[in-house]
Parts: sequence; C-alpha cells; structure tokens
Amino acid sequence: MKQKSTNRQIPWPNIRTEVDANNKQAVPLHKDYAMNDMWYLDTDEAYPMFEKQARIIKDRKYKGIIDVGCRHGPVNKILQQDLDYTEYSYFGFDTSSEPIDIGTTTWQDHKNINYKNISWEDEFFVDFKVDVMIFSGVLLYIKDQTERELFFKNIMEKHQCKNAIIQEPYHYQRHWDDRFELQCITKNGLDFLNKDYTVDLHYLDLPIFAGKRVLYDVSSRT
Ligand SMILES: C[S@@+](CC[C@H](N)C(=O)[O-])C[C@H]1O[C@@H](n2cnc3c(N)ncnc32)[C@H](O)[C@@H]1O
Repeated sequence: MKQKSTNRQIPWPNIRTEVDANNKQAVPLHKDYAMNDMWYLDTDEAYPMFEKQARIIKDRKYKGIIDVGCRHGPVNKILQQDLDYTEYSYFGFDTSSEPIDIGTTTWQDHKNINYKNISWEDEFFVDFKVDVMIFSGVLLYIKDQTERELFFKNIMEKHQCKNAIIQEPYHYQRHWDDRFELQCITKNGLDFLNKDYTVDLHYLDLPIFAGKRVLYDVSSRT
C-alpha cells in the first residue's frame, strides 16, 4: 500500500508506538483517548464519515440511539445543527473520559442527549426504545471473530435493537504508511451480519489518515 502524493496536508494522528525489528508499527487501539489524540476525526475532511451516519438516522427516522464508544458524539452536532433533526433520544458512552466530559458539557441543555464514562463490558440501561446502535470504529477492537459476533448479538438483543450503523477502516488504504499495522475487519470480519440482517454498504474515501472507510447500514430481517 503506497501513499499517493497530494497537495493537501492529510490530517494525521500522532502515532507514538515503536517501530519494531521488522519495521512494523502497530496503530494502537486505546481505551482512554484525550480529545487531541483523535483530532483528525474532527476535521472538515472527516466530516462525511459522521454526516453519512446522521443521514441514515434522519432518513430512517430513528428516534432512539445508543452510540457505543462514542467519543464526544460528533453525530449530534450534525443532526441538530446541519440536518435540523432534533427529536430523538441519544445515549453515548465511552471509556475515554475527556471526550465524554466535552460531550456532556456541550449538550447539557438537551435533556434527551446523555453521555456516560463506562465500558461496553459494564451494565447499562436506557429509558427509551432503541432504534439503532452506532458502532463507529469500535468493532475492530474485538479481535476474535466469534467474540465479535457474540458481542454484537448480545448488546443488540439486550437493548432489543433491530438496526445498527457500523463504520470501520477499509482493509486497503491510500493515506497510509506501509509500516503500519492496524486491526481491520472489513475483509470478512463482519460477514456474520448477513445471517440475520440486510446490510447496505457505503464506501468513503476521505483525505485523512486511513480515510477509506466502510459504512454498514444494518437492519434486521425479522
Ligand atoms: C477509533 S475510536 C472511535 C470513536 C468514535 N466512535 C468515532 O467514530 O469517532 C474508538 C473509541 O472506542 C472507545 N473504547 C475503547 N474500548 C472501549 C470500551 N471497552 N468501552 C467503551 N468504549 C471503548 C475508545 O475510547 C475510543 O473513543
């Protein structure tokens, strides 16, 4: 995978892991990010990644949203301010405390938008009917295929949720460095979805680090 030349500066995170003896560098998947670590996801260049999620929510008229590993919940600003879609209940959670604090403060006047600094391993409940769960850049954290399928099944069932929006980095990248190693699940790591769900795929090619992304618009067939 070679990075093509471009006139623009590509928003790129500071990856601090060591280059190993084989000249490989792991792209880390942390549980506690500061806002600044993920700054490239909050650029104009990255906007379509979250806009597409917001458009699916608006088009399908989803009213109850759980956002798993949400950071500061960028989808809320797009729904509220750019798409004028305001009548929904949102619960976002993440183990990263700073983005959760920022989301909480930003939306403190909206009683239907709530955040919590917890893990997906913790028990949590919401007081609304859940129409959709967002998994944006989070399912790749679960390396084992069977475990990933089980995690998805359990969390969807627990909240009686029939729809999901999944976003993942594609297994081939343009804005990349050949030394990087990133856990990718777009080749076949989400094939289990086809058993029970209709899956519409949307491919994005954004001028950011690892900007080729796949969005899975997932709806239960039952
Ligand atoms: C790649 S980021 C994606 C963030 C956000 N969904 C987005 O699309 O911008 C992954 C997020 O998952 C969070 N995370 C990692 N492990 C978690 C866990 N066990 N429970 C909840 N969130 C977790 C990280 O803190 C991080 O914010």
